[in-house]
Amino acid sequence: MLTGNEIRQKFIEFFESKAHKHFESASLIPDDPTLLLTVAGMVPFKPYFLGQKEAPCPRVTTYQKCIRTNDLENVGRTARHHTFFEMLGNFSFGDYFKREAIVWSWEFVTEVLGLPKDKLWVTVFTTDDEAEKIWIEDCHFPKERIVRMGESENWWAAGPTGSCGPCSEIHVDLGPEYGGDENSKIGDEGTDNRYIEIWNLVFTEWNRMEDGHLEPLPKKNIDTGAGLERIAAMVQGKSNNFETDLLFPLVEEAGRLTNSKYHESPEKDFSLKVITDHSRAVTFLIHDGVIPSNEGRGYVLRRILRRAVRHGRLLGQKELFLYKMVKKVVDQFAIAYPDLTANLENIQKIVKIEEEKFSNTLDQGIQLVNEQIEMALQAGKSSLDGEITFKMYDTYGFPYELTEEICNERGIAVSQEEFLAKMEEQKEKARSARAVIMEKGQDSFIEEFYDKHGVTEFTGYHSTEEKAKLLNIRQKEDGTLLLIFDKTPFYGESGGQVGDHGSISSEAFQGKVLDVKKQKEIFTHIVEVVSGEAEEGKEYTLTVDSKYRAAVSKNHTATHLLHKALREVLGTHVQQAGSLVDSEKLRFDFSHYEAMTEEQIQEVEERVNEKISEAIAVEVSHKTMEEAKACGAMMLFGDKYGDVVRVVHVPGFSTELCGGIHVENIGHIGLFKIVSEGGIAAGVRRIEAKTGYEAYRFVEENIGMLKKTAKLLKTEDSLLLEKVEKVLQEEKEKAREITSLKDKIAKQEAEALYTHALEIADVKVFMAKYEDKSMDDLRKMIDFVKDKEENAIVVLTSTFEKLSFAVGVSKALTGKYKAGNLVKIAAEITGGKGGGKPDFAQAGGKDKSKIEEAMEAIKKAIKENK
Ligand code: ALA
Repeated sequence: MLTGNEIRQKFIEFFESKAHKHFESASLIPDDPTLLLTVAGMVPFKPYFLGQKEAPCPRVTTYQKCIRTNDLENVGRTARHHTFFEMLGNFSFGDYFKREAIVWSWEFVTEVLGLPKDKLWVTVFTTDDEAEKIWIEDCHFPKERIVRMGESENWWAAGPTGSCGPCSEIHVDLGPEYGGDENSKIGDEGTDNRYIEIWNLVFTEWNRMEDGHLEPLPKKNIDTGAGLERIAAMVQGKSNNFETDLLFPLVEEAGRLTNSKYHESPEKDFSLKVITDHSRAVTFLIHDGVIPSNEGRGYVLRRILRRAVRHGRLLGQKELFLYKMVKKVVDQFAIAYPDLTANLENIQKIVKIEEEKFSNTLDQGIQLVNEQIEMALQAGKSSLDGEITFKMYDTYGFPYELTEEICNERGIAVSQEEFLAKMEEQKEKARSARAVIMEKGQDSFIEEFYDKHGVTEFTGYHSTEEKAKLLNIRQKEDGTLLLIFDKTPFYGESGGQVGDHGSISSEAFQGKVLDVKKQKEIFTHIVEVVSGEAEEGKEYTLTVDSKYRAAVSKNHTATHLLHKALREVLGTHVQQAGSLVDSEKLRFDFSHYEAMTEEQIQEVEERVNEKISEAIAVEVSHKTMEEAKACGAMMLFGDKYGDVVRVVHVPGFSTELCGGIHVENIGHIGLFKIVSEGGIAAGVRRIEAKTGYEAYRFVEENIGMLKKTAKLLKTEDSLLLEKVEKVLQEEKEKAREITSLKDKIAKQEAEALYTHALEIADVKVFMAKYEDKSMDDLRKMIDFVKDKEENAIVVLTSTFEKLSFAVGVSKALTGKYKAGNLVKIAAEITGGKGGGKPDFAQAGGKDKSKIEEAMEAIKKAIKENK
């Protein structure tokens, strides 16, 4: 019996033997603004299908990491739903078509996997006679087990527009015990769990346009996808994917970590499967650079992670456990995804932080729901509004089922319909937000321009000046022009590096380039008109501002050095999570789970500067992805295999794939200075730094500040630290002296109180008014009197800074007189607030003219309380 790992390997070997090239799995984060996540094996190849890019080779095979979350609620409930899964695929870019795709799939399924022929079924698209004929004639597949189906079953597309086509699917029949009877066919009612689709062969020959109509693609292509987990289940004779050797070790680990056993009850199995599936998705998402957040991919990750933690709770596990699953996932999948191992610690830490956060949320949520129930009960209601249950979910991340469970326990009704209605409203909002993302990804002007003129030739790696023909002018509302030329030396904003600045000129026109944007390799220059008019078809001189570009390049190359130094100092889990490089600074975001220490920051800075001082020449070359990887280039998400990539190499130190503009020799960077380090999200840090002249200015300003400080303290620069320490020490001593003096004064003042003590209702009453005493002073005086007198009330007031009252009552008298009550009298009369303990209380007041009145009122109260 084949193991899951063997199936994966045999699939790749099988297609390698059919002249396919094996490409590594692309990241779960697609290089495609219209898609949130990689949802199928074909995602990395979309540009090849659409003919936007030349495929590096005509036949490719992959096992691809995928995530689908449209059916999240079903994951764990059914035998085959997953969030993360692996898709085995073979692809033809304008090379072979239906016949080979069908014949090879048949060969693999029957000969390599050895699945019984008589248990297999095939579906084809309603009108696809060709596919059916191939199945019958080339594979000798019985016609009676071929079923024709419509668009919903046998047409495949990655989205509403783009490449698509009819498909043919291979299914396995598990037999009548899973539904139907001897005469059942695929598609019959009640047979959903009986016929298991294992492979989808898509004949990608169409492009669906915005208005819905189909246009033929430049070439016919093949895109196939076979779910590894399903195939493993079929080959291993398991009725559910979680029991295959790919996933069962995770089910067992989930059981161990939550003290539960598989097959004890359907509810427990459900939770264990959720934890199994979700821990895998969470591990791979974080590995590919997703960080929990409240939007986009980060939110997908957060939801999956929370759902897993919640199921841990359902199994009775209140302690953190999910982060411990990561190790098992990595152990289980490192054979196919070896990069996982080095990232283990980082993934664990990020999961732990988020898990901890959510566990607190759960505790708080339980309390909040209880409060809401109390409020509802007090208001005489017997149910919780959908508004509240949804808010618990949406604002506090508290799962609906938990709210429901607590309400049930307390005999309060909740309406799931109301909750779902609110949820639907929210989804509607999210849908429109997504529509905006789609629009952003599809600029129809650029599409049309591309079709007509192709890409802009970029000449800026080697020159800063170029003569070029103006192909298109658009004007923005503010009067600036958007110009596109046939070629340009201007760098277009990309890879974190800002667009170049400079000028555009001809005899009849002068313009200042404010920025340059790049879409689909088309460079749009944003230009402020200085004089004259620009005209399409004419030639212009394009001149890059070399000083600006030099400053940007320094920052860009320094970013690579920083990246490498961080990996050396902190560890190889450090991955770039974003960057911004302009002429004044560089910003580098990276994965790391805690704040860097001062020493680490210093060490990183030192390493970069050490390298700079070695003045190493930067080498730029073009390599295939595989070659680049072999030289240890640091890959970023979105980098694609097969492509020829640009490698920026600082010999002996850093190798990165990068399309940016760099200094010729790192010595040109001059100086590198980290300005700040901080966190921007759980597990993501940000460093800002400066280079060259800007770094010098930064250092200068800081030294200037030190010099001024030294001058103020009347000392030499070199003695500044000692001096500051001395000043601080002196200050401490002075503060001590002041306190002791104040104590003495308080004592004297308290003694002076005796000269006009009153006797009211057998109580010694001390009253006084000051202008220069703080509350602390008043308290000291009161303590002094209370220490001496067993039968005293002290009422003091001061107008120092603001009007305040303090009242002290000897312990023995507190049964009868409460300091709080007495001080409140004064507060009320003078328009303030106050309170405290029975033996000491304080208050603030507003109306100073009423001090006497307040004191008299207190006297009266003491008298009357007799
Ligand atoms: N792209 C096809 C699918 O995902 C193979 O089913």
